[in-house]
Amino acid sequence: MEYSIKTVGMLTSGGDAPGMNAAVRAVTRAAICNGIRVKAIYRGYKGLIDGEVAEFSSQDVSGIIQRGGTIIKSARCPEFTTPEGRKQAYDTLVREGIDALIVIGGDGTFTGGRIFAQEFNVPVIGIPATIDNDLWGTDATIGYDTSLSTIMECVDKLRDTATSHERVFLVEVMGRDAGFLTLNAAIAGGCEAAIIPERATVMEQIEDAIGNGRRKSKNSSIVLVQEHAVEGGANAVAAMIEKEHPEYSTRVTILGHLQRGGSPTASDRILASRMGVAAIQALLDEQRNVMVGVQNEEIVLVPLSKAIHQKKDIKEDKWQAMLTLSI
Ligand code: F6P
Repeated sequence: MEYSIKTVGMLTSGGDAPGMNAAVRAVTRAAICNGIRVKAIYRGYKGLIDGEVAEFSSQDVSGIIQRGGTIIKSARCPEFTTPEGRKQAYDTLVREGIDALIVIGGDGTFTGGRIFAQEFNVPVIGIPATIDNDLWGTDATIGYDTSLSTIMECVDKLRDTATSHERVFLVEVMGRDAGFLTLNAAIAGGCEAAIIPERATVMEQIEDAIGNGRRKSKNSSIVLVQEHAVEGGANAVAAMIEKEHPEYSTRVTILGHLQRGGSPTASDRILASRMGVAAIQALLDEQRNVMVGVQNEEIVLVPLSKAIHQKKDIKEDKWQAMLTLSI
């Protein structure tokens, strides 16, 4: 059987991440350089179902490497979880003459892409882009570094008011089911504690870090709380602290979607550029149903099934570093 990709479809799906545009640019230009036509699918899988497709030229991706968000839009698409929705999506592919799909997104994006690939025998390549950094098989996902820097800057600003008013700040951080953003931002921001789903030590940490810190040398604290680590999030942790320690004055900051915005860092732009080129190379090499990842600075290909189903671990030395340095 001849295996030749003439037209590739590209979409961004799920929560947007800074650097998605750099990936769109890289996929487009790498495809064109290799004689492959590129069709942008707007609004993720929704656009695939609705037929919102436009061919891209090299100029269509000019001036976007520095822009956050995604110029081809993103959406969460419940219809794509149904066989009827996926059949409509396949009809669009056939109509548009698209031979392979490059899907840029996170866990949900890859889950949908993998089922679609199996049902309709379409080659799918995943490019990991999510601030959560929760995909197995890649050291980093596009958008994570930018988001981490944004959170760190917010923590630095909150530190000023926390010390001035001698308060305990509870800062709620995104991450879906994972604590990577929270733990790493806590280390970078010199925080007193990090409440993450991977380590169930809420009150212990608070007693140790905040209590000892305040008694010894500190008069204020910043605790990062991963959005789903505790039911009720940062507000619930603040309530716990005020109940146990009415002498502490607490304030809650929910960073929310601020964490997903902004111009991507150099690191995210470079990662996205490398991964976009590697995704086209993977198709040329007749790969299918793999995610492009980066491990120890080298580009790797990982089966989509592993990227989705295997659990990426929190590094114990990072956890220990956060605990050790928070006293
Ligand atoms: O996966 C990215 C992410 O920002 C998560 O950290 C968060 O839980 C979720 O998306 C929020 O999704 P939405 O923007 O749909 O509310």
